[in-house]
Order: sequence, then structure tokens, then C-alpha cells
Amino acid sequence: MNEQSLSNLIRSKTDIVDIIGERIPLVKKGKNFFGICPFHDDNNPSMSVSKEKQIYTCFTCHATGNVFKFLMDYEKMSFVEVLQYLGNRAGISTDGIGLSKSNTKYDKYYEMYDFSNKYYQNNLLSTAGIKAREYLKKRGIDKETIKQFQIGLSLPNSDDLAQFLTKKKYDIVDLNTLGLCTNNYDVYKDRIMFPLFDINGKVVGFSGRIYKDTKDNKYLNTKETPIFIKGEQLYNYHIARDNVRTAKYVIVMEGFMDVIRASTIGVYNAIALMGTALTKEQMKLIKRLSQNIVLCLDGDGPGQSAAYKIGEEFQKEGIEVKIVTLPNNDDPDTFILKEGKDKFLTYIEEAQNFNDYKINIMRSNVNFQSDIEKAKYVNDVLTELVNVNDEIRVEIILKKLAKEFDLGYNTLEKKFSSIKKDKPQEKLKLPPKTDIKRKNKYRQAIEQIVYYMLTNEWVISEVEKKHLLLPDDDLRIIVQEIIYYYKKYGVINIADFYTYLQEKKELIGSLDDILNSSYSEDVSKDILCLYFDVIKEYCRKMQISKIENKMSLEVDPLEQAKLADEIRRLRIGE
Ligand code: UTP
Ligand code: MN
Repeated sequence: MNEQSLSNLIRSKTDIVDIIGERIPLVKKGKNFFGICPFHDDNNPSMSVSKEKQIYTCFTCHATGNVFKFLMDYEKMSFVEVLQYLGNRAGISTDGIGLSKSNTKYDKYYEMYDFSNKYYQNNLLSTAGIKAREYLKKRGIDKETIKQFQIGLSLPNSDDLAQFLTKKKYDIVDLNTLGLCTNNYDVYKDRIMFPLFDINGKVVGFSGRIYKDTKDNKYLNTKETPIFIKGEQLYNYHIARDNVRTAKYVIVMEGFMDVIRASTIGVYNAIALMGTALTKEQMKLIKRLSQNIVLCLDGDGPGQSAAYKIGEEFQKEGIEVKIVTLPNNDDPDTFILKEGKDKFLTYIEEAQNFNDYKINIMRSNVNFQSDIEKAKYVNDVLTELVNVNDEIRVEIILKKLAKEFDLGYNTLEKKFSSIKKDKPQEKLKLPPKTDIKRKNKYRQAIEQIVYYMLTNEWVISEVEKKHLLLPDDDLRIIVQEIIYYYKKYGVINIADFYTYLQEKKELIGSLDDILNSSYSEDVSKDILCLYFDVIKEYCRKMQISKIENKMSLEVDPLEQAKLADEIRRLRIGE
């Protein structure tokens, strides 16, 4: 089976509504399903998924495609990876696929990390690993967990890994580039090695921890490399992804030890920031996992100020996170060890809404002897409440405030309404629309015909018979490709044709445009002829103006007359 037939088969056994629905909540409205578009800052569900056509379109950012395109863009998978993933789900063998394709230039890098990872894991299990194993045991990390997180050990020798990999014919220059070596010597010496995975589960870096009494930095992390992009690193993302789908929320922690500990009590939907800073890229990735985010950072000062800051950043994006406040000396790791699973789960369940958390913090700073401070606090709370989307919660908080400060509920309500009215409504962030071509009616007519060709197979032979002269290169090629595809496969549908075109970026853009334009699918021969006429009229006009041009440059009266005659004949057809 060739790749096109295989991908068509896999696609036909896959329902795009299931695949997108597992990642984004979809609601059925009429024939289609709607959800929040993950490809732009969407607040209203503007992505529509068609079960019938097996494509998605976003009417705001115009993201469009079939299930393959969705997974490639959303999960950042390659086409081959998507085929393997969906093939696997549908029980269709994809053996041998992609092998003939040329390797990406990073494949060697991934390989080197894969070898290093296995090498370090072996070290930990060898006699050289006794001390490290003792350390892990003492921390309550059992064999199962070591295996699960692929924990390893780097040996004290200064060129251990360098030797191992160069014997495998890898270049020392690449080892330096990848942050495994520096100046041809190993970066990691005598550290417990935690592999860091990218969002697809490939090892792309390490964090090495000291385990003896040394004054070195506790953790040593791989430097930024072509495959290790620190701003996008989130520990355990690839594992959490599947578990978040069932749990319906994601827990964000600071350290990867916290995440590892959480897994020992069966909590698999946690990821770690690897510190307290949150980058824009990390934020996007987290939002993609779930809009239900529970922040469970360390209980200490830095952890709590990070929680506040991160909470505010998500608030700006219209997401209210929940906050778990651990006791001051604990991180999730030590808390779980001390207090156990049930208590930890209770903390997670009772996580505070960010707005409440913020109001509590504001409250803890108020001097209640001062009327001025009290009034300021009440006003601050009212301002903050504008961000709360739940009217009932607003009312509860207003009532509490009224009671506590002996104020009239109506006074507070009135003030709240006026603050709310004054707050500039955030404009819907739309992506720039620069690439939207102005379409004249001729282009629209051709687009409509292309759409008919893709939705009504009989139209294809009608178009072929007509030998239309199509002025726009992109649409002309698309029409030719549809005819070619239909002859070759005997059937056509939008979703498979999409796969077929995907390598041709210029054409995909034009096809996206058509799919986004909500053209009608109903067509009769008469209607089709009307569209053909529009195109013919256009071609005639183009020809006439070409000849007129030529005529204005012509000096020979005889030639001029000939051209004038040609124009006349064309006009008669009008
Ligand atoms: P923590 O110091 O909270 O780590 O740093 P932890 O999870 O409690 O680790 P243990 O329990 O002492 O083993 C949180 C994260 O910050 C990064 C690491 O990614 C760590 O997971 N970090 C910390 C470093 O990169 N370097 C350091 O020296 C310390
Ligand atoms: Mn810790």
C-alpha cells in the first residue's frame, strides 16, 4: 500500500470529532461541533469541527485542516508520527512507514541522548551505583519509580560518557553541542541523572543531582541546545497529557522531585516548571493540557509569591487557576512523605480559586484600625471582583463584605456595577488579517466551483469537459490536482484531498481559504452553468483588454483593424 492509500485508510477509520474532542471540549450545535480554538487566544468557541466533512475550521484565526493537520499542529507531531499514532488506535499496521523518508537533522541528536540515557540507567544498576541507590532508597524512591522515570547515574570519571559515545562513532563536537560534554569532557560527573523529555517523550536533556555531601550546585541542567529549548521545558508533560484527559485538570509544581513523588501516590496529572518562573511558551503548553489548572508550588516565600504572579498571568488570559497553599516548610514531595496520599488529595480538592486567594492576601495586609485602609481594602476587593465570572460568588463576597464592614449591600452593589462598567472591556484579540486576499466575484466563482468539486463528485467531470481558462494560478492548479486525484483514486473527499495537498504549502493556503468561506454544497447543473458563465465572462474581458492594449501600441493601420475585428467578435459573444 502506498502512503497516500494508507493515510486515507487510517483517516477513514478515525473520527476527527473524537480526536479533537479528547483534547478540547466540544459542544454539538446543529450539524457541527464547536470548541475553543487552540491556535489563537480564543475566548469564545470559534473552532467548528465537521463530522460529515471530517475537517475543522476556525472562523476567527482561519486555522483549517483535517485530523492529520490538527494533530501535527496541536501535538507538534510529524506527519509520520501522526500516522503511527492514529494507525495504532485504529488497529492498522504502519510498519515500515517513514523509514524511507530522510531522517531529520536532529535524529542523530535524539539518538545520542537515547544512548546516554540508557548508559546512565545501567550505571545506576551496576556496582558503581550502590551509594546512589542508597540515597534514592532513603528518599523513598523505589525501583519501580526509578524505572518509570528512567533515573540513572553519571560516573565520577571525567570522560566516561565521551568514551562511550565516541566508541559508537558519534562525534565529540556533537557531544559538546548537545551539552553532554564541554571542551570534550563530560559535563555530568557523579550525579544522579534525571532525563528531561520533550513534549513528545524524547529525551532531550538531563538534570543531574548531587547525592553526596558536596558543595556543588544541587542540580545541574543541560544548557540550551538545538533540541533542548528551556523555555518550553515542562517535566512530565508527555505522561501527564494522557492523564489530564481523564482527571480533567493539571497540577503544576516547582520541582521534578515533586512530580515524581506525586506519581508514587497515583497522581499522574502533575507537571513541573523546574523552578518558579513561567515562560509564555510554557503557559501556552499548559493551557493546551487543560484550562483547569491547580498550582501546587512550594510552601515557602518564593513559592507563594510565584503562585501569586503565575495566577495573575493566567488571569490576564481569562483563566482562573486554583491555588494550593502548603505549609511553609513543605514542597509537595515532603508534604506527601509526611502527611500521605489522602491529606494531599484533600489539599488539592480544597484548592482556592485565585480570586479568593488574592482577596485573602490583600486582607492580610490591612490595618483594621484605620478607616482609610479599610475603605481602600473594600474598594480593592470590588475592583478585583470584576474578574470573577461567577455572579453567585460575587454576591456571596459582597454580602460578606457588607456584613464585615457594616455597609449597605446596595451601596456595595452600586459601586461594584460602576467599577465594572468603567473597566475597559478587553478587546477580542484577533490575529492580523493581512493575508486575506480581496476576492473579486470571479475568484469567488472559481472557489465555489472547487468546493462543489470536493463535495459533489459529478462536478469534477463537468469541469474537466469545459476546459475552463482559469486566471488564478493557485486555483487552476488545485482544479488540476482534484481532477488528477479523482482519476487516480476514484473517490474524493475534502479530508483526504487535504492530506494529499499538504506538502504544497501555497496551495494549502488557498484551500484553507475556500474551506473557511462557508460556500454552499447544494448544486445542480443549472447553477453550475451560471458559475461557468461568470468565469467565461471574465476570460473574455481579460482577452479584450489584452487586445486593446496591443492595439494601442500598434502603428500599422492594417494590424489595428485586425485587432479591432477580433475585439468585435469577442464582444458579440457577450
Ligand atoms: P527545589 O530546590 O525546590 O528542588 O527546586 P526540589 O524538588 O525540592 O529538589 P530536592 O527535593 O531538593 O531534590 C525546584 C526546581 O528548580 C530547579 C530544579 O529543576 C528543581 O526541580 N533547580 C533547583 C535547579 O535547576 N538548580 C538548583 O540548584 C536547584
Ligand atoms: Mn524537595
